[in-house]
Amino acid sequence: MVAAAIAITLSSAADPMLPSATDMTRLYTRQVEVYDWTRAAMLFGRRQIVRDLGLREGDRVLDVGCGTGHALPRLARDVGETGRVVGLDCVDAMATRAARRVRSWPHVRVVAADLLDTELGERFDAVLMSYSLTLIGAWEAALERVLDVLVPGGRIGVVDFEGTPRWPFRRPFEAHAIQFGNARRDWLRTHTRPLLDETQRAYLGAWRFFRYVGQQD
Ligand SMILES: C[S@@+](CC[C@H](N)C(=O)[O-])C[C@H]1O[C@@H](n2cnc3c(N)ncnc32)[C@H](O)[C@@H]1O
Repeated sequence: MVAAAIAITLSSAADPMLPSATDMTRLYTRQVEVYDWTRAAMLFGRRQIVRDLGLREGDRVLDVGCGTGHALPRLARDVGETGRVVGLDCVDAMATRAARRVRSWPHVRVVAADLLDTELGERFDAVLMSYSLTLIGAWEAALERVLDVLVPGGRIGVVDFEGTPRWPFRRPFEAHAIQFGNARRDWLRTHTRPLLDETQRAYLGAWRFFRYVGQQD
């Protein structure tokens, strides 16, 4: 069931470089139908990061920016029915699609809300951020939020773009308001204990992506 409360505070409207809530909703509402097949050859490392999280039976896991729910079935299988999975997405159309994907899994819940503006009312053993962190303008507040909902010893797993893609690959990234740079990963390195910190090249270096798993002390 989708809890529909989309009060979005994605970024400061004062900074035109950051995606506004309206931009994000417009972009992904338009793309929901084509999202899964267009991203398959682009969003690398998504299966791997779920394995990297090292989930155990009974774990509670949060998928921030779950999109159409690509990772949810895998997370649900890994934690089993004694565990719990919450998918969170601020774009209603994406959350609705994700909820449909996992409707037969009783231990999976999808919430349509912004990470920065919602009270989940529970804590998690692991948090996944798969290609959502580079879209969040207020990323520092978002990561603080994630650490708040992680139990001591809990893990955060991030897979995302790194570095500026080479021309002519830049345009699609800019159109999706993806923000590059090392600030987010550096923040993670100083606020969590790195268990995995790896960069890989896509298409012979057309762009790079990273996988990071950190543990909360
Ligand atoms: C590129 S998609 C990735 C979806 C999915 N995790 C995947 O790997 O296919 C990023 C998703 O993050 C969501 N998102 C961005 N900022 C968010 C926020 N502050 N709170 C919740 N969801 C957010 C977007 O709506 C979008 O569906």
